[in-house]
Amino acid sequence: MSIPTLISGASQILTLRGRGPRRGAALANIGIIKNAAVLIADGLIAAVGSRAQVEAHPMASGAQQLNATGRVVLPGFVDSHTHLIHAASRANEYELRITGASYEEIAKHGGGILNSVSKLRAATSDTLKQRAHLALKQFAAYGTTTVEAKSGYGLDLVSELKILKLHKELCTEQPLDIVSTFLGAHVIPAEFRTQKSGVKKYVSLLINKLIPEIASQKLAEFCDVFCERGAFNLAQSKQILEAGKRFGLRPRIHAEQLSRTGGAQLAVKLGAASCDHLEKINRVDIRALAKSKTTATLLPGCDFHLGLKQYAPARELIDAGAIVALATDYNPGTSPTVSMPMILSLACTQLRMTPAEAITAATINSAYSLGRDKQIGSLELGKLADISIFDVDDYRDIPYYFGMNTCHTTIKRGQIIYSKSQRSTT
Ligand code: NIG
Ligand code: FE
Repeated sequence: MSIPTLISGASQILTLRGRGPRRGAALANIGIIKNAAVLIADGLIAAVGSRAQVEAHPMASGAQQLNATGRVVLPGFVDSHTHLIHAASRANEYELRITGASYEEIAKHGGGILNSVSKLRAATSDTLKQRAHLALKQFAAYGTTTVEAKSGYGLDLVSELKILKLHKELCTEQPLDIVSTFLGAHVIPAEFRTQKSGVKKYVSLLINKLIPEIASQKLAEFCDVFCERGAFNLAQSKQILEAGKRFGLRPRIHAEQLSRTGGAQLAVKLGAASCDHLEKINRVDIRALAKSKTTATLLPGCDFHLGLKQYAPARELIDAGAIVALATDYNPGTSPTVSMPMILSLACTQLRMTPAEAITAATINSAYSLGRDKQIGSLELGKLADISIFDVDDYRDIPYYFGMNTCHTTIKRGQIIYSKSQRSTT
């Protein structure tokens, strides 16, 4: 048994306690306790509450102290949508877009996702792993303690397995938890585009070969599809996600990002864990999501990075009663950031979410979308001690300071995995 840790002195502890996931007005309920403390033992939360209550716990007296005076303590962020493994930046395309080309035009000319696919296929596992390790350190430095990771820059058996095996290895080699998703249906790979019935052949390869193989090797929990013009249509998406389900992979879907395809309602019909992007949804889609248990995961980093003006209708989704989550969508094409605090800033200014709603969306609701809301996403007795401490005395300062890192300490399963020695703001 390790020595317990007592975190005290914080100006606010955001517990996110109570029923999760949150819908509607409940999104604003972040369970703030002032003059509070958290006791950690064996990687779990042993007590949380007022300082007096926690200090009365039998293990509190022998605990090592972690002084959080003047700071805000909250659950570590759960980043429920990333494309962690990729080989390189696409800053060249970023510049092309600034000078006038659109994301879809670049993709049509063999850039975009296919650009990342050729680079990933040429890269060794070791190089990819090294790059991912550096990114994971950065995720932790911004207060994230769990990361979902999608394959999808391999698009053949060997390369997709290479990525998914890295998810597993990385999960054991560094502190953050990695939740693995198979996204073989990202786009049609180049070698199938020139073949007769190439699309059909690739969908059949996914269904008959890759999904069964990945499921049998237990390399993914979820199956995702990019349901979009230029990627997979509604019928193909349905076929692929249903095949995944037959093999025990829960569906997630990239839907309604650049065009409205019907992907959101498909997600609801399939009982998908999450339906992500949603810039182009209509009222009927919003109602369908609101009545469902499918999380609506919003990724405002994409619109920001692509310079698009139409963000997802977060207010309407929340007000209708949908389970709204936030994630970075860390990827080289549309959202090269690991910073959940920056995503919170965008959620507040662009999606008109309040700071409290954004924090709920980035913790308990995103944990729910990964099927982990019983273990993480709030600071409650028996949950993992996954905690971030920000160097601000009011939680609203977390999104308020945009583009700067106010995270002071990150704790994963009770261990400090990131610590900034000096104050970052004020
Ligand atoms: O979530 N939309 C599909 N996947 C990514 C983009 C991937 C890329 O451009 O490399 C996304 O935006
Ligand atoms: Fe994505």
